[in-house]
Amino acid sequence: MSADLQAPKGTFDTLPPASAQFLAVRDTLTAPLRRAGYGYVETPVFEDTAVFARGVGESTDVVSKEMYTFDDRGGRSLTLRPELTAGLMRAFIEHRLYGGALPVKLWSVGSAFRYERPQAGRYRHFTQVDCEAFGIDDPALDAEVVALAVQGFRDLGLTDFELLLTSLGDATCRPQYRELLVDFLAKLDLDEDTRRRAEINPLRVLDDKRPEVQAQLDDAPLMVDHLSDSTQAHYDAVREHLSDLGVTWTEAPKLVRGLDYYTKTTFEVVHSGLGAQSAIGGGGRYDGLSAALGGPDVSGIGYAVGVDRTLLAVQAEGLDVAAYAGVQAFVVPLGAEAKKLAVRLVGQLRQAGISADTVYGDRGLKGAMKAADRSGATHAVVLGDRDLAEGVAQLKDLRTQEQTAVPLGELFDQVRATVTR
Ligand code: HAM
Repeated sequence: MSADLQAPKGTFDTLPPASAQFLAVRDTLTAPLRRAGYGYVETPVFEDTAVFARGVGESTDVVSKEMYTFDDRGGRSLTLRPELTAGLMRAFIEHRLYGGALPVKLWSVGSAFRYERPQAGRYRHFTQVDCEAFGIDDPALDAEVVALAVQGFRDLGLTDFELLLTSLGDATCRPQYRELLVDFLAKLDLDEDTRRRAEINPLRVLDDKRPEVQAQLDDAPLMVDHLSDSTQAHYDAVREHLSDLGVTWTEAPKLVRGLDYYTKTTFEVVHSGLGAQSAIGGGGRYDGLSAALGGPDVSGIGYAVGVDRTLLAVQAEGLDVAAYAGVQAFVVPLGAEAKKLAVRLVGQLRQAGISADTVYGDRGLKGAMKAADRSGATHAVVLGDRDLAEGVAQLKDLRTQEQTAVPLGELFDQVRATVTR
């Protein structure tokens, strides 16, 4: 039978046993945030389209080409979130969290959607772990956030990654730098498309991967050489704190992120085992985001890590982050009377916090024992009619095949004691 309905292009299903790795990666990436006092937030997977148009920026590919935007039945323009930051900022403003103690430190994890050209590591539906610290502009907070991103990768055992760091300046120095860059780009031999891109956001040309463009950019003016005194001092302080936190980085003066809201500290983490889609996480400070969404003029800093890409990095380094756990005990009923007992025993074990399963449908002894082996259980409880008539069940160690008869009255306690030993 061939399935005529398949997961949409650019999406995929994560099935057991591989899904255990996905969960382990996701949870390991969030653990440092929980340890650092960040609070968990859920926001809708769709928002008013304006949240992203104004937050992420109309000139970005993400907003102009990649959004899943639709009108709902009430005629509202909604968009599936292409990232989590703008929605979290919308919530921060809507619930006036800025009126309380600052910074407001939040994290979230969930689906994001971008209509991108699918390839290895680049999907139309993917999962991000997101961290944001809203409301305070303090270089020590920048360093904390960057260090948390790095910690998640370290905790997974990853080593082949690199932290790229730069400062994108702010309103006091970026406009002047932008003019310098526009003048410089105007003298280059660029095609029509690139020229148009340069008009909308000249910084993005710095990130052009084509060798014929890169060759002309050797002498391009760099933001880091034109920082105002205050942004320079901010960047210096961030780097000092990062050193104190034991984080190493590579200066990346041509780093340009795909979202428009960044100012000052900006970073990306790239992994060498992933080919073209090498960014496993990225983030930075965003001075204007709150105001762009109608909030007070407060700053923030955060990052997002791609769980799917991090899982690819884990696999590329051959790390074993999660063996498929399966269940602890598997109950095999043989006959109608045994079935009732099996259902009850599985229920009791689960209530006691022990993972247990049984067979459903008529599988016969052979099929049931195969299911027990596949379940990952260390022990099977075999309930045969003849044994039951004698008031016992067989408790079988599936690793050694050793079998002991256990009186039914002691069965629950014995199974519990055995599998938790
Ligand atoms: P971003 O760099 O666009 O930043 O995405 C963060 C990470 O999400 C990327 O490094 C990558 O691992 C993953 N990712 C992005 N697009 C895809 C895709 N199509 N398929 C698979 N993985 C993908 C942001 O989203 C910002 N909101 C980060 C941030 C938070 N900045 C400040 N706060």
